[in-house]
Amino acid sequence: MTAVQATSRGELAVYDDPAALSAVTREVRRAGRRVVLVPTMGALHAGHRSLIRAAHSCSDAPDATVVLSIFVNPLQFNSPTDLDRYPRQFEADLAVCQQEGVEMVFAPSVEAMYPPGSDTTVAPGALGAELEGASRPGHFVGVLTVVAKLFGIVGPDRALFGEKDYQQLVLIQRMVADLRMDVKVIGLPTVRDPDGLAVSSRNVHLDRAARAAAATLPAALAAGARQAPRGGEAVLAAAHEVLSAQPAVLLDYLALRDPQLGPAPSRGPARLLVAAIVGSTRLIDNMSLHLGGL
Ligand code: PAF
Repeated sequence: MTAVQATSRGELAVYDDPAALSAVTREVRRAGRRVVLVPTMGALHAGHRSLIRAAHSCSDAPDATVVLSIFVNPLQFNSPTDLDRYPRQFEADLAVCQQEGVEMVFAPSVEAMYPPGSDTTVAPGALGAELEGASRPGHFVGVLTVVAKLFGIVGPDRALFGEKDYQQLVLIQRMVADLRMDVKVIGLPTVRDPDGLAVSSRNVHLDRAARAAAATLPAALAAGARQAPRGGEAVLAAAHEVLSAQPAVLLDYLALRDPQLGPAPSRGPARLLVAAIVGSTRLIDNMSLHLGGL
């Protein structure tokens, strides 16, 4: 089914059929326009708006057609409860797409993305079992499989992802390089609320107390980053101190890595990553820093 609605930039076409969308994006490329994909699971927020705006202003793809996908991908959820709990607000999402001038929304059913008999998945390699992958076994198989399918269906020239899911971004960039996929993956900075909390669809599950405690995560990352000139141990100690002062934050991991998520260097660019359960919600965040001075 295809439905067409007016937007700030023209019309918003909503597709649920992969073949219909593929045919349209093929035509767009044949006509000489680039296709930029913003993959999402819906529940669109300020972070997604910033991705859409960046998609419209890709300097090497002016006048691109922006396609936003909305698909809550069951394959990347570890527990049925987490999948059921994921916020869904399709009509509100379409309104955001209209306001932001998205031209095409792709919102397939689970059956359309995983038809009976489809059995191939994408293995993320060793990094897929670390950090998020250690706490959520199979998560990145689900992410890479659905992203590979979306790339196959949409055929984008560019695809935009937020840095908040930093390990996801690194793994998608690796998949594209390793499997020689013809798409440029672009990561964009995390959008934060005024208290520093990274915006996330999951934040709706935080009650007032949990919301206040959640701000400890960016505060810990910032405390760690301030110690970066003194080296990795000082960074981790400072971040740990902030996290352990907040009993409502149940720490899963705090890790310092290089920007590709290999072992942290003693000097140079690095990434500090944190995951914790606050209230009943699992939150992740990360920050870039430069170890050992500039
Ligand atoms: O970051 C997300 O919202 C999802 O993991 C993605 C990339 C859309 C794949 O389902």
